[in-house]
Amino acid sequence: MPDLTTRYLGMTLKNPIVPSSTPLTRDPDAPLHLEDAGAAAIVMHSLFEEDVRNDERMIDRFLIHPDAFGEASGHLPFSSGYESKLDRYLAQIEYLKGRLGIPVVASLNGDSLSGWVELGRELEAAGADALELNAWHMPGTVFETAGGVEDRYIALLTELKAVVRIPICFKLSPFFSALPNFVRRAEKAGAAGVSLFNRFFQPDIDLASMTVVDRAQLSTSADGLLAMRWIAILRGQTSITLAASGGIHNAPDSLKMMLAGADVTHIASSLLLNGPSLISQMLHDIEHWLVEHEYQSLAQLKGSMSQRNHPNPSAFARSAYLSAIDTFTPPAGVRY
Ligand SMILES: Cc1cc2nc3c(=O)[nH]c(=O)nc-3n(C[C@H](O)[C@H](O)[C@H](O)COP(=O)(O)O)c2cc1C
Repeated sequence: MPDLTTRYLGMTLKNPIVPSSTPLTRDPDAPLHLEDAGAAAIVMHSLFEEDVRNDERMIDRFLIHPDAFGEASGHLPFSSGYESKLDRYLAQIEYLKGRLGIPVVASLNGDSLSGWVELGRELEAAGADALELNAWHMPGTVFETAGGVEDRYIALLTELKAVVRIPICFKLSPFFSALPNFVRRAEKAGAAGVSLFNRFFQPDIDLASMTVVDRAQLSTSADGLLAMRWIAILRGQTSITLAASGGIHNAPDSLKMMLAGADVTHIASSLLLNGPSLISQMLHDIEHWLVEHEYQSLAQLKGSMSQRNHPNPSAFARSAYLSAIDTFTPPAGVRY
């Protein structure tokens, strides 16, 4: 059997299939089923800084200063046994660490210095093996600059690195003006890896109700091509972990990401659609493909089609766009 081991954030994993952050890790049993099916590590659902701050405000209002509410305080929604989202998250890390043999990566979605630093410290103390930072600041005004947003991310990472010892992975959005340079800066500031990319759920407008609606939209395999291109470009220019996230639904999707240079492949949509058996099926199919193509290990294959190793480096560059345009042919029967 081929050797499927791979490196992820300084850890050795038994294979490259890592469920990414989804609500599945809120469930007491689902993570155990993911491990049974062969998952090599697990990234937890995110702890959102906004939720933690909101809890803090409520606790302060209703528990610490209840007198301000007079008689109404008897009807307040909290008792002193109230468990905050942070308490629940920390308890879930401890529970998973007690039940799973695979690494548990905590996920933090925050936007402020105090959020990342204080919470990062708590997640480490609860036993997380690594920390995935969901770097998502939305520059909603015409005054914020790309450089300013990047500086902010790097400053947050630097502060966090000063207080936590576990490896840190940046989960990035695809919306960077110069992604390779940012990854280099993150590497220099101490990131152990980057996860490419976060998937954003875009608000939609419902014409019937004339409201803005939020819905989780699941991916298809075609969504993986964006991360595949950037991983191919980055491999060879960085030695930190490159984790592919987005559009990985089966063994071929995963193999292509690793040929481009990914160290691990995350799965979310496909796992939510198919359940844990997807993992064992993917591992079986990856092994079968490697045997059929005479690979002894994943390491042999990893990055062999990255931009640096590909005989035609422009395949991942701008010129690919020009040649792709020329491949378009009108569907049969359609006249313009
Ligand atoms: C229902 C759902 C919930 C998610 N929750 C989180 C989350 O809490 N934190 C996070 O960083 N990513 C979250 N994601 C994003 C996934 O971890 C993943 O990066 C993204 O969906 C792309 O992978 P996919 O194409 O396999 O779905 C969520 C995705 C889905 C579909």
